Amino acid sequence: MSKKFYITTPIYYVNARPHIGHAYTTIACDTIARRQRMLGSDTFFLTGTDEHGQKIERAAQAAGKTPQRYADEISAEFRALWKRMGISNDDYIRTTEDRHIKRAQHLFRVIRDNGYIYKGTYTGQYCVSDELYVDGAQPGDPCPTCGRITETVHEENYFFKLSAFQDKLLELYANPEFIRPEARRNEVISFVKSGLRDLSVSRSTFSWGIPVPDDPKHVIYVWLDALANYVTAIGYGSSHAGAQDAFKKYWPADVHMIGKEIVRFHCVYWPAFLMAAGLPVPKAIVAHGWLLFEESKMSKSRGNIVRTETILDVLGSDALRYFLLREVVFGQDGSFSFDALVQRYNSDLANGLGNLASRTLTMINRYFKGEIPYPSGAARTAADDAVAETARRTIREYATLFDQFQFSRALESAWGLIAAVDKYIVENEPWALGEKQDDGSRARLATVLYTSAEALRIATALAHPVVPDATAKIWVQMGLGDIKKLDLPELTWGQLQLGTKLGDVAPVFPRADKSAVERMQQMEEQQRPAATEEASGTAAKEPAAAKPQPATTPAPPASAGQTTDGKITIDDFAKVDLRVGIVKVAERVPKSDKLLRLEIDIGTEVRQVLAGIAEAYAPETLVGRKVVIVANLAPRKMRGLESNGMIVAASIEGGKPALASFLEEVPVGARLK
Ligand code: MSP
Repeated sequence: MSKKFYITTPIYYVNARPHIGHAYTTIACDTIARRQRMLGSDTFFLTGTDEHGQKIERAAQAAGKTPQRYADEISAEFRALWKRMGISNDDYIRTTEDRHIKRAQHLFRVIRDNGYIYKGTYTGQYCVSDELYVDGAQPGDPCPTCGRITETVHEENYFFKLSAFQDKLLELYANPEFIRPEARRNEVISFVKSGLRDLSVSRSTFSWGIPVPDDPKHVIYVWLDALANYVTAIGYGSSHAGAQDAFKKYWPADVHMIGKEIVRFHCVYWPAFLMAAGLPVPKAIVAHGWLLFEESKMSKSRGNIVRTETILDVLGSDALRYFLLREVVFGQDGSFSFDALVQRYNSDLANGLGNLASRTLTMINRYFKGEIPYPSGAARTAADDAVAETARRTIREYATLFDQFQFSRALESAWGLIAAVDKYIVENEPWALGEKQDDGSRARLATVLYTSAEALRIATALAHPVVPDATAKIWVQMGLGDIKKLDLPELTWGQLQLGTKLGDVAPVFPRADKSAVERMQQMEEQQRPAATEEASGTAAKEPAAAKPQPATTPAPPASAGQTTDGKITIDDFAKVDLRVGIVKVAERVPKSDKLLRLEIDIGTEVRQVLAGIAEAYAPETLVGRKVVIVANLAPRKMRGLESNGMIVAASIEGGKPALASFLEEVPVGARLK
């Protein structure tokens, strides 16, 4: 019998339109779900929307809509976006659905009947944005999570006996697999060790929520309501015969994937609720870091979100998936930029996987009439064996790293195989062998192209869960049919059958031209005012119809000697105009913790540059200081101000940026090269 695998995303609040922060979690889960299916697991992948609570009620009010209508609209946007991206979720739960409401009430009742819920009065601080009771805070104190001022709440509530679960939770955390990564596990352990107070699990001063069973003056606390989705969606608490089958089969979840800011809810409250209800706890809770944009967490309230649609319009879903999983070290925060996205796309997808596929398959078409040639034993060299060995090692390494959620390293390993084959092709010059007609050259050519095609097949199979669309196309081009039928656990070197007839060969990742970055920035710029308005609580607007234009041009075939391993040439580097400048004016940008506005004299002119260094440097200490700036960067707008250039600083993991400087005296305007 096949192994079951149940994976969930958080259910997203409907007070904000989806952005690439949400897409990041969903993509990570989708990739894991796809790989599990390829491994033969009976997989269930759940996502959905979190629609109750004071935050949604207020957002709806601000938009002049009923909460239900407001939730309907935004939930539909999430759902449509996941569909457009080909997300392979098996269900989509909304907390306003009847099935959820009834089953969540059932969970509440079971916990109450088991003696873990009692009535009391709560007086204290509450953060509406995080829907969080802030223990120990005083009126006027900020929320420790988001920094917004907390609100004072005094109301009759139902309380959950969280304090009764301290020891049991600590026992649970003894299993290092339960909370990942380690840093998050340590935070949770110290939080629980510091003592747990009972938790209010109902609200009675507003009504947008699930009524408490037998006491409808109260609504269930939105986090208990939301967390319950992980069991209600698969049938827990259903009164219909048969509806609980999925629950019996899939629960406990194998992975709850979440962002790091909601660790406490998932690792403390959720297992305690489950234990109180007599239910098994999930097997693992995996927290990833934040996507940062313009130096801070991408979020609606900061107005610094990037819409997923922009990237889909210009580069497609595979590009975003690959970029996020390759570029961000899973578990840590990672910066998003359009420049980095396009660079990765071109170096790893257009010039990497895409180019390997088109050059290999084009040569098989040209020299062997579109049939996979026979690798001759006599014509075999150590170089062929080395590629085979790299492929075998990559299959093993990729699986290990992937299972540890180290997507970036897993992809690095798979792309290492691609780079090895590229080098092998360059060194073995199949195009030169193709010009010769003697038997020896023909045999060698067959071996080189077989080896390249087999390595391509393996890289494609491994990459499939991450870049599903392009790899499915390559599979068909290789004449292998439906990639979904691949038996991944059996993947090994040498399975490519000779004589396999190729399909039609066409580039899968056309190279992105320079205007792609600009186009995406412009599309986002057009959206910005709407995003900021939403953040300030005024009516949400329909996004302006941004006209997608094709940003890609077909990739020219790579020639021998072209760098395909992400390296740039000296000419590429020479395009970057790095100059010494001197800071004339430095001041904070209003309402930004991170940004400084600088006026920098670069010899020929004075430039306004915005730099995210306010946490590392007081503005007054910078005046008169020499700095290095990238002088030919396209202007971009942040917080309504235009930045003309970028100041160069060392970025230190977990630390503050340090500005590049010189030990010798250097003149203003000097170029760095
Ligand atoms: N509704 C709750 C979750 C309830 S789960 C039972 C919630 N929703 S949310 O809309 O705020 O989404 C939170 C999740 O979206 C994060 O935990 C993370 O998975 C994802 N992200 C939202 N913004 C993000 C970034 N800027 N970066 C990375 N992930 C982000 O909290």
